[in-house]
Amino acid sequence: MSDLMEMLKRRGFLWSSFEIYGGSAGFFDYGPLGAMMKRNLEELWRYYFVIKEGMYEIDSPTIGLEDVFVASGHVKEFVDVLIECSKCGAVYRADHYIEERAKISVDPVPEEIQKALNEHAVTCECGGTFSHPVEFNLMFKTAIGPGSRKTGYLRPETAQGMFVNFPRLLKFFRNKLPFGVVQIGRAYRNEISPRQGVIRLREFNQAEAEVFVHPAEKKHPGFDSIRDEKLLLVTKFDEEITLTAGEAVEKGIIAHEMLGYFIVLTKQFLVNAGVDEERLRFRQHRDDERAHYATDCWDAEAKTSYGWIEIVGIADRTDYDLKKHMEHSQKDLTIFIQYEKPMKVRRKKIIPKMNIIGPQFKDKVREIVKALENYEFNGKVSINIGGEKITLSEDMYEIKEVEEEITGERIIPHVIEPSFGIDRIFYTILEHSFDEDEVDGEKRNVLHLPGYVAPIQVGVLPLLSKKELMDVAKDINTNLRINGILAEIDESGSIGRRYRRFDEIGTPFCVTVDYDTLRNNTVTIRERDTTRQIRVPVDDLVVDLKELLSLKPEKAFEELGEIVR
Ligand code: GLY
Repeated sequence: MSDLMEMLKRRGFLWSSFEIYGGSAGFFDYGPLGAMMKRNLEELWRYYFVIKEGMYEIDSPTIGLEDVFVASGHVKEFVDVLIECSKCGAVYRADHYIEERAKISVDPVPEEIQKALNEHAVTCECGGTFSHPVEFNLMFKTAIGPGSRKTGYLRPETAQGMFVNFPRLLKFFRNKLPFGVVQIGRAYRNEISPRQGVIRLREFNQAEAEVFVHPAEKKHPGFDSIRDEKLLLVTKFDEEITLTAGEAVEKGIIAHEMLGYFIVLTKQFLVNAGVDEERLRFRQHRDDERAHYATDCWDAEAKTSYGWIEIVGIADRTDYDLKKHMEHSQKDLTIFIQYEKPMKVRRKKIIPKMNIIGPQFKDKVREIVKALENYEFNGKVSINIGGEKITLSEDMYEIKEVEEEITGERIIPHVIEPSFGIDRIFYTILEHSFDEDEVDGEKRNVLHLPGYVAPIQVGVLPLLSKKELMDVAKDINTNLRINGILAEIDESGSIGRRYRRFDEIGTPFCVTVDYDTLRNNTVTIRERDTTRQIRVPVDDLVVDLKELLSLKPEKAFEELGEIVR
């Protein structure tokens, strides 16, 4: 890992933020190559979720109103427990610290933490003892506008921006379920003591999809096309098992097709992005581990030098969020689902006694009568009028059994959420593609990145630093860039050294201009992973390289030209 981190810093992938001021844990900058690669990774994600799946992307503010996060439960529930050393003042996230020191896992609630501290005599690294564990909310709080009158929070997930836009989205999707919305952007969590580099950040990048579905229709039309995909699963009972997606859903291990479909889509995206399939598994959350909003949740986990780390969470959030936003905003977040044929139903109708409620509720009577029209009697009559809860006593109404024809029903959609941690995926890809091998008796560092993820896609090299070769190389470089291929010229040092420099940053192909180029207008293309070379006409370069850099090339490298080395 240290060799990789050194390379990532030196070559401009990842830098600790605010370095000249001593840095700050939990913040990283993407340097020029890192930013390019991150962008490519996000584009690949867009290909899977927006272009292929037909979802639409929105872009909402990264600061949210307090109301939003009160409703979502984050103000109350989005907490970790911290402990502070009474001797040196060091602060730790309690569950992680205890796990590290006492090798036990502990529920992240203050009472359990205190018990574990006592039972296992856990002390600070300096030998000091800890103060009482306390809950710490992970959201960054801010004030909106002058005078701190309105509290805001930096969003801890992009998801809420999609939930609060539900009425507009529903109209956009012409009032039909299912539909999917995505968002790629920054999220913020004020982690207590982030000590794992880019794995635990205070400002990070998410790509999230929220798929709004009918609660009784969690099937996916594409499921048959992926049902035979094999998945390495770790169930909530900690059993490791390899099953096809179809088997896992049939056995009830994965709750339904929708989750199964998105687990497979996630796997396809990750593997094509460069995550090693052998170091990828899907782990189900234990019942005591799930987030406050989820019923079933699976993490895609990748094995890295930090151990197995969560890189994607795929959750069934049910109607939790829409229901909460409906309660708090008092806005209708339901959808009317029309039946194929009208249905006759018998129901208990509430008939208000006007002579009693009239004098008592005066100007609210009209609204009360309207609210009672479709009221589902459940033993009592309690309605919400303009934010005020009004309960009618038994003497204020009669109950009458009626038969009614209904054409449909109002439901609150459920939400299936695949949520991707872009920074962790970025880092995992780098770890999984980093290699040290030997070429022509010489050690080299190489990143086996897919061409569509690599920050620089093509190196253009004049064999020697001579004007006549350099001029052609410049023209080729310009032409590749005009055609959307990210190419870069390197003319300094031996050709071997230049190949190594491009191998180290994962550039999949190098084009070399030599004296044959001046004679017959051909160049060599060198393939990073095998170091084989083919000779091709300069005029074919754009088409050939686009083919080689595509997600699904139709031709192999050796089919595009004669192998010359
Ligand atoms: N939206 C899920 C998460 O941020 O964890």
